[in-house]
Amino acid sequence: MIALLTGLGVTGIALAFGADFALVPGVIAGLAVFGAERSNRLVSWWPSLANNARESRYFAASGASAAWFDRVLEPNLPLPRLSGWALEPDSAGYLVRLVQRQEPQTVVEIGSGVSTLLVAYALEQLGAGRVIALEPEAKYADQTRGWLEAHGLTHRAQVITASLEEQTFEGWQGRWLSTDAIDSIQAESVELLIVDGPPSETSKEARFPAVPALLSKLKDGATVLVDDAHRADERRSIARWVESGQIEPDYIQLPLGTGLCVAKIAHSRE
Ligand SMILES: C[S@@+](CC[C@H](N)C(=O)[O-])C[C@H]1O[C@@H](n2cnc3c(N)ncnc32)[C@H](O)[C@@H]1O
Repeated sequence: MIALLTGLGVTGIALAFGADFALVPGVIAGLAVFGAERSNRLVSWWPSLANNARESRYFAASGASAAWFDRVLEPNLPLPRLSGWALEPDSAGYLVRLVQRQEPQTVVEIGSGVSTLLVAYALEQLGAGRVIALEPEAKYADQTRGWLEAHGLTHRAQVITASLEEQTFEGWQGRWLSTDAIDSIQAESVELLIVDGPPSETSKEARFPAVPALLSKLKDGATVLVDDAHRADERRSIARWVESGQIEPDYIQLPLGTGLCVAKIAHSRE
């Protein structure tokens, strides 16, 4: 739409100045804006800091009640309870809004649970997209699969059981999801990465590998959402992703739940 208006506007100006081929600059300007719009598709949704702060304040003040999720997602069955091991309701509400705004085709989530179901519902409403949840614990993978089946959302979500194996990444050493599970994800396909696992007790800075291990699977400008971002380990991991140029330095820390970090994969990543 902006491209069309630009084209018409430039043609109008050219006509007003009496140009002989007034349509030519209009078409060129329209195509240029169209190209810019398409190349920026992933980043154009990126909300301004003011928007983010407003949305964050909304969820911080009012939370996101069960009634809010029922109204927004219209689930077929009652939703499982949030909090505890799952995302806090305010963070989950923010995640739902993020998916609705960004309309990602492929979401990867590390650490499955209620959030997988919520994302699947948000994608179902959009009529497109899929979430792939990587889950280290077989019993919790089964639990999430059970919810997806009961809610009729298996076409929107896949839960992959990914056992933890001793690995190293950029000086980090610990237990991380099996390479087989990561290999099964298509290269440069992921538009939103949700980092909510593995549990902190599995390794020091247990979530550090999330970005380096999945970098080749993430699109330029993809969003990375990190839960528990108030914790020292998560803060250190985020700082290391910035230092290595993997995420943009202008990430946002939202005071939701146990801390929610919203970051973007850098366009100049290595
Ligand atoms: C922080 S949780 C992930 C929660 C998920 N993203 C959500 O918001 O629903 C991290 C890990 O906790 C484990 N988990 C899942 N369900 C659980 C439960 N009912 N009790 C304890 N741990 C659970 C799983 O292994 C999961 O990967």
